[in-house]
Amino acid sequence: MIRDLGDIDIHRPRRYAEQGYPWQEWDLLRREAPVFWYERDDIEPFWAVTRYEDIMTVSGHPDVFINGGPRLRLALKDETELLRGGLDEFGRSRGWDPEEPPDLTFMDDPRHRHVRKASSWAFTQGCMRGLAAHFDELAVGFAEEFMDELQAATARGESVDFVHAFAAKLPLAAVGEIMGLPDGDWKKLLLWSEAIIGEVPPEQIRPGETLSEAAERNMNEFRTYLEGLVQAHRRPGGGPSAFINRLVEAEVQGRKMNDQQLIGYLFVLIGAGNDTTRNATAGGLAALLEHPAERDRLCADPALLGSTVDEVLRWTSPVISFLRTATREFELAGTHIAAGDTVCMFYPSGNRDEARFADPYRFDIARTPNDYLSFGYGAHFCLGTNLARAELAAMLKALIPLLPRIELAPGATRIANTHVSGYSKLPVRAAA
Ligand code: HEM
Repeated sequence: MIRDLGDIDIHRPRRYAEQGYPWQEWDLLRREAPVFWYERDDIEPFWAVTRYEDIMTVSGHPDVFINGGPRLRLALKDETELLRGGLDEFGRSRGWDPEEPPDLTFMDDPRHRHVRKASSWAFTQGCMRGLAAHFDELAVGFAEEFMDELQAATARGESVDFVHAFAAKLPLAAVGEIMGLPDGDWKKLLLWSEAIIGEVPPEQIRPGETLSEAAERNMNEFRTYLEGLVQAHRRPGGGPSAFINRLVEAEVQGRKMNDQQLIGYLFVLIGAGNDTTRNATAGGLAALLEHPAERDRLCADPALLGSTVDEVLRWTSPVISFLRTATREFELAGTHIAAGDTVCMFYPSGNRDEARFADPYRFDIARTPNDYLSFGYGAHFCLGTNLARAELAAMLKALIPLLPRIELAPGATRIANTHVSGYSKLPVRAAA
């Protein structure tokens, strides 16, 4: 039982890897100090915001709590914030502008609104309905490959990592599809997008290279690939991807985007939907297997698929936190926030807020209402919500007939990150 707010740890990446999400600490904060000035030696202080209503208030005031301030993601004092390293050799050699925000998440209105509009047309519910049958087809194919792998591994007395054998595949294949990338390129995207979070499989590290050098090389290969795509679509008559053609031609406040802006844009669209959706899928499988009554309920009534997708998103909450900077004084739930202060919203905590969700620690695949915060809220509300929901629906649908034949195996590991987390490995085997 945790008693002292001064001792709690909700900011260290290793904590998330070693012990999972700090549910007890967030419960305590919601109960006793919902807007809490969090001060620790190894991080710049911030207001920890843990209640549902207060997260909505912060997100609903983008003029007061801006994204374009000095901090957007938690980082320890000796770490560089993700995507915030400034210009490296890649950018310098191309004469990029060091003041340019890396992507739309770092922007505020009006620019943010215009930049977002340049791609939001591709992620509407209507577009996803058109792609659903294709996602189903891809998911069934990936599920078949996975089951073959599972049977073979189980026969050898081994387990299979569900994250890489299944969960990681559709999110990249689907975004590749929407962007009109060549078939099969998603395999390269998988490698590169893992490099963004500093993970490179040992066989991809070249002799004499350190892990961080291999990660940097992969990141640059990814950016070179995106640069090639942009250039191919700038040619007269455009390139093969209708999506990239439209992005290249889009006018943002009267001007077309330059290479730096377009590469950043494609980078976030590919990166943002990758580990988030994968973590929801792996966490969703774990939740269903750990709650066999809910698993059986879904198998008996596949019409519960839609509400299962929503409950999996609430339950797993793959995005842990985002920061904002206050531009002026603000009273948040009776606490005075000063201009310049940083606030940190903890979405998973909002998703377990007993003031909003009945029995929030119950995994209930038919939960209604279920207004979870996993995609954020307000101006920056996840652009890929419809896509993520469509992908999850396709993946869970393909898994339903297989669920009774899968069981969890020992050795699961979690991602050491305070922005996006979940299982890095989820070993499973064929059920006895
Ligand atoms: C389960 C999967 C996903 C989760 C949990 C998730 C969650 C989030 C969250 C919490 C935000 C910030 C919202 C805010 O600040 O209010 C966000 C923003 C964003 N997401 Fe997602 N996301 C997911 C999948 C995707 C996918 C598939 C894409 C692909 C296009 C995507 C693209 C984006 C983009 C571009 C933004 C920035 C939007 C902006 O700043 O205007 N996300 N997402």
